[in-house]
Amino acid sequence: MKIEILPSLLAADYAKLADEILRAANAGADAMHIDIMDPHFVPNLSFGPDIVALCKRIAPNLYRNTHLMMSRPDLYIEKFAAAGAETLQIHYEADCDIHSCLRAIKALGVKAALTINPETPVEVLRPYLKEADEFLVMTVHPGYGGQKFISECLSKVTWLREKLPQIDIMVDGGVNGQTAIDSARAGANQLVSGSFLFKQDDMKAQIASMRANLEELI
Ligand code: DX5
Ligand code: ZN
Repeated sequence: MKIEILPSLLAADYAKLADEILRAANAGADAMHIDIMDPHFVPNLSFGPDIVALCKRIAPNLYRNTHLMMSRPDLYIEKFAAAGAETLQIHYEADCDIHSCLRAIKALGVKAALTINPETPVEVLRPYLKEADEFLVMTVHPGYGGQKFISECLSKVTWLREKLPQIDIMVDGGVNGQTAIDSARAGANQLVSGSFLFKQDDMKAQIASMRANLEELI
């Protein structure tokens, strides 16, 4: 499976957002992970569709992976698709009909991913295994960057990988050089990393070294 490394824009320096988007693109990132939060779903607020559109304008070739930490993602998927989101990740814990929301995302020509929080058992995903294009296992409680990786979540990645050998499985939260290796060993092939990557002086060298370490494992 192809290993993909996705810097999370949440950890960028907002005083120079356009430069930070370009820094990730020029560092060889496989995609930009764009964290959208509403304060009903998490105890924080972040970006809206305009930031997705900004990423598209600044780095049109950098894939836009858009993580909707929202109670009602179903009400916003059209806006995010129109802004340029290429994958939309909704949460199992959201307040909407998950089957119809996944179908509606796909009908917009966007990839549909399903996400679970650390406290949610992975078995809840069983009815969606054939329906979602990919899965995201949160390895921190959503809401903030810079938290500690919750290793106990990795057994969920392994559960998914055993059932879905060909599907992209992502981890998000607390990913650094070591927890990236732990995640890939568990079966993840897409790794979101925010604070660890954006604090690097040389993001390109760090992504290259992560990629080299991870490709040996897969
Ligand atoms: C958490 C977000 C993550 C976060 C990751 O709510 O979904 O994408 O930005 O940041 P780090 O890598 O700093 O944990
Ligand atoms: Zn995220």
